[in-house]
Amino acid sequence: MSLGLDDVIAAETRLSHVDGENGRLIIRGYDIEQLAGRISVETLLALLWGGLAPGDGDARSIAIGLGQARLRAFAIASAVLPGLPAGLSPVEGLRFMLAAVPDEDAVPAHLLAVAAVPVFVATLARHAAGEAPVAPDPEAGHAADFLHMLRGVSASPAHVHALETYFVTGADHGLNASTFTERVIASTRAGMASSVVGALCALKAPLHGGAPGPVLDMLDDIGAEANICPWLTAALDRGERLMGFGHRIYRVRDPRADVLKQVVAGLRGDANRIHFAEAVEERALALLAERKTRRRLDTNTEFYTALLLEALDLPRALFTSVFAIGRVAGWSAHVMEQETADRIIRPLSRYIGSVPLQAA
Ligand code: ACO
Repeated sequence: MSLGLDDVIAAETRLSHVDGENGRLIIRGYDIEQLAGRISVETLLALLWGGLAPGDGDARSIAIGLGQARLRAFAIASAVLPGLPAGLSPVEGLRFMLAAVPDEDAVPAHLLAVAAVPVFVATLARHAAGEAPVAPDPEAGHAADFLHMLRGVSASPAHVHALETYFVTGADHGLNASTFTERVIASTRAGMASSVVGALCALKAPLHGGAPGPVLDMLDDIGAEANICPWLTAALDRGERLMGFGHRIYRVRDPRADVLKQVVAGLRGDANRIHFAEAVEERALALLAERKTRRRLDTNTEFYTALLLEALDLPRALFTSVFAIGRVAGWSAHVMEQETADRIIRPLSRYIGSVPLQAA
């Protein structure tokens, strides 16, 4: 038995495969490097949803459906916003709003789920900044429309391309913690909306999708090249985990890290901190190899995600929510795939508590 279900196969999927030994991520028959930076979110959705979604179509028909779904999501956001409890973090606000998405709606559930996340994230961010929400443009591309709803102005093609590359790179990743969580929920026939809420609850935590913000905190705290070694050594001495390193499946470098690093290099000129980050990465890997001999630990996707989102001038507090905008593409496909399997996921536990004495 393994407490973390390491090496347990708990689902069959045609959606994605993480080859941890060879550092390879396959999405429906394509290596991630063949997709990231080359296709739109809508094309990726056509790939993921093919054969699963009711009336599934090509990227063009998905773009039209998604645009309409963003309008519907904006109506939900506008109705929910006045009741938003004070003091929630952005991702807690997202959890609150997603819980208000109905199980049954005129808009198909998979379209509404994917549309709702960016609309809610942008609406919540503007609300927190005291600004009026910006309505979606159903004609715009999904990534471009998110930046427009967030900023209130159109984004540059370079920013749209970078964000779209990030969304495609992060869309699906095997049976990670949030996807597994949601497949368990979906297996009870709870439906798309509830499954996505559960997935977000798992994603938002520090060991999963909550790492990129702390990666930047770490870089800020280290501050200068001279501090790298002492800072990292002290953190490991205290038994802390270095954010952006290590992975349950990858035993080599996470292939997504290089895809994202390339995008960061093209943003913000010399102000993108990539050289400093590389120096931190190099030292961290050397220290982890020295101290953590049980398993090889390498750079994961969150390290360069942090730099990418920073180079896009996205607020640190939004990083986990922005991760969810990309990942809901995979989540929506996994719910539909699990519904097709239609088998409740119900493993066993081994009882290690006390047992009542047998009556004489
Ligand atoms: N820094 C320091 N030590 C680490 C790190 C790290 N980043 N990651 C793992 N370790 C240690 C473990 O504590 C363990 O130490 P031990 O042998 O002394 O007990 C050893 O390395 C082996 O750990 P694994 O079994 O490989 O780690 P596990 O599979 O349990 O955890 C996880 C994977 C959660 C990603 C872990 O590496 C971690 O916490 N990383 C930092 C957080 C992070 O970057 N999260 C984002 C992951 S990517 C994503 O979710 C999108």
